[in-house]
Amino acid sequence: MKKTSISLIALGISLTATQTIAFEKGDFIIRAGLATVSPDESSSNIIVGSDLGVNLRVDDNTQLGLNFAYFLSDNLNVEVLAATPFKHDVNFGVNDPLGTGDQLGEVTHLPPTITVNYYFKDASSKFQPYVGAGLNYTIFFDEEFTNANDQAGLKDLSLDNSFGLAAQFGLDYMINENWFANGSVRWIDIDTEASFNLNGTPGRVDSIEIDPWVYTVSIGYRF
Ligand code: NI
Repeated sequence: MKKTSISLIALGISLTATQTIAFEKGDFIIRAGLATVSPDESSSNIIVGSDLGVNLRVDDNTQLGLNFAYFLSDNLNVEVLAATPFKHDVNFGVNDPLGTGDQLGEVTHLPPTITVNYYFKDASSKFQPYVGAGLNYTIFFDEEFTNANDQAGLKDLSLDNSFGLAAQFGLDYMINENWFANGSVRWIDIDTEASFNLNGTPGRVDSIEIDPWVYTVSIGYRF
């Protein structure tokens, strides 16, 4: 009798272990890894008095990505994406138009994003795929021209902050009850405009669509 109850308990534990590997309502998870922001940009031309006929390009950047999520139900979570600040080179759309090099300057931003994610549930599978949609607010700071452009008279670069939609799909791979690996791809609608001065004459770029793809690979932990 004693033997039977022990093996029943063992069976109960192993059933519980396979049942609880998937996320559940009330779970809080944290993920840390690398996030690459890869702009799919398009920009209008630089205007200083008249249209200079030159637009802008924005390079990729990779930073430490962190995110936190709370499961509102077995299938739905709310996730906040945070990261160390992304620093992007901003280049002229054509080579060296002002004789100051190919690079115009550099901008730094933080793109906090909140998404609600839906998990396609197969509770017994180690693969837990999801799709999500949400909102992004991108804060630009430390906008700087290169030294060569600064010496050519370009000053006071400023980019407007951006508020827009975000969408993603991702996959958690459950290593055990607490640890998992994650990969996700997001698209974020980040649109801004730039203003500056050239030897005292105001200049601007009216439309800069950065609209990046954000690729994240991370390790997660469930509390
Ligand atoms: Ni856009």
